[in-house]
Amino acid sequence: MRILSIETSCDETAISIVEATGMFPEATYEIVGNALFSQIEIHKEYGGVFPALAKREHIKTILPMLKEALTEADLLEENVNTVTAELAEKLHLLLSREEGLASELISFLEQYQLPEIDLIAVTQGPGLEPALWVGINFAKALSAITKVPVVPVNHMEGHIFASVFDVVEDDKLAQISFPALALLISGGHTELIAMDSWAKFEKVGQTKDDAVGEAFDKVARMMGLPYPGGPEIGTRAKRARAEKLPPFKENLPRPMLHSKDLDFSFSGLKTAVRTAIGEKKLSETEIDALSRDFEDAVAEVLLKKTADALTQYSAQTLIVGGGVSANTYIKDTFTTQLLSSHPDVEVYFPQPKLSTDNSIMIALAGHARYEEARTAGAITLIVADGNRSL
Ligand code: KG4
Ligand code: ZN
Repeated sequence: MRILSIETSCDETAISIVEATGMFPEATYEIVGNALFSQIEIHKEYGGVFPALAKREHIKTILPMLKEALTEADLLEENVNTVTAELAEKLHLLLSREEGLASELISFLEQYQLPEIDLIAVTQGPGLEPALWVGINFAKALSAITKVPVVPVNHMEGHIFASVFDVVEDDKLAQISFPALALLISGGHTELIAMDSWAKFEKVGQTKDDAVGEAFDKVARMMGLPYPGGPEIGTRAKRARAEKLPPFKENLPRPMLHSKDLDFSFSGLKTAVRTAIGEKKLSETEIDALSRDFEDAVAEVLLKKTADALTQYSAQTLIVGGGVSANTYIKDTFTTQLLSSHPDVEVYFPQPKLSTDNSIMIALAGHARYEEARTAGAITLIVADGNRSL
């Protein structure tokens, strides 16, 4: 089955072509085309993602990404047919809120034809609404052209799939044991998900305020570091540890460490960092030390809550996903500490290239949901002419 997947939930415009062979969860996935444009440089100026700007950039980039993915897959063919007036009208209607995109798509179709595809998977949410709509409407337009169904994918579920893909065996999902627990740590979310199976998820903990990635980004900004702050803080904290720098601020708070529930809070920690900085202009060494102090506090809270949840849900597997899972200190802490406290739990982190937003994970989750729907008949597919159940 050939899957075309689209991700536009935040500041990455991504399209992949993935060939799935066999049935989920034993299928083999070949990534034949993968195009991704990161808007990070554009948003840097604003210190974070600016939704209206993100939408504009997705509109500008989505067609070039489709072309790039198809070219890489060797599937871009010259067109022999013309675009009918009826199809052109439909595309203008579907893309009426994506200024200029319908006309560009029509010119594209006059030159090239879309290859055979079996399924279109698109991120439906959560994410920035104006950004998400570009991907969804583009998926509907491609569906109108190809008559292929569209499966909507939850972005966070995508991160779960990314973390177990290509980590044990090439091109396959790891065969995980249930019950499993997922810790999802990204720019918009911090969640603990208990999973009884690939089809049964329950959110059992979440942040009450800032997401952990958001805290990284905001704290980085306070220290004068560029967006996104996560990788910057990670590099500086690593240096501070290597140089054994003394703390810039001892005993930063570990919010909700001892609360009985599985929820998180990071805004108090962020405020404590702000107070510690005050009006001071930090030296490079102080930034390194404070980055390490902050990262220590975050890792400790994440680890404690995750360990509690693993015990509470008798989980046999831990899946850590989302952009912050690229943090090597968090990964090392989890791997070593859980090995002693929960030696029977298998721990999965994504490959670095799949930890931040991408469309490969949307293809994987889309394939799983599509196959489940085929067996259970319980999913709503978006199709060009409205919604229908499979
Ligand atoms: O999953 P993601 O790419 O986008 C969302 O769905 O939000 O996550 C982006 C977040 C940003 O907040 C970024 O600062 C953080 O992931 N991040 C990191 C690292 N790499 C990215 N945080 C800590 N350490 C990293 N190495
Ligand atoms: Zn994400």
